[in-house]
Amino acid sequence: MSEDGLVEVKAVESFADGDHELVDVRGVEVGVVRDEDEFYAFRNTCPHDGGPVCTGPVSRKLVGEFVGPGERVERSFSDEKIISCPWHGWSFDLETGENVADENIVLPSYDVVVENGIVYVDDGR
Ligand code: FES
Repeated sequence: MSEDGLVEVKAVESFADGDHELVDVRGVEVGVVRDEDEFYAFRNTCPHDGGPVCTGPVSRKLVGEFVGPGERVERSFSDEKIISCPWHGWSFDLETGENVADENIVLPSYDVVVENGIVYVDDGR
């Protein structure tokens, strides 16, 4: 860890799209996830039962539109991305960390900084 509070993760060029890395940030396991050209970091502990949430898959959020009583809900995939815990499938918005079923459940997030081709997590100090 550096004096400026940045924890090195790894080089951008070796961080594949859809990949994740786990780092220790002041004693907390944090998962850093790459989705296309964006990086996200969350505490790697699922609020449901402690699973390694950041090691789960990233996908588009499935949304449904109520069309009328007795009619089938129209479903489609939105542009919003989610990450799903590999243990039981709880899913969280990749931008906000909010659980898709209950916005009051939020994964703690960390700022990610890219400097000189290296990905860092800001330890929040
Ligand atoms: S521990 Fe993550 S969904 Fe159950």
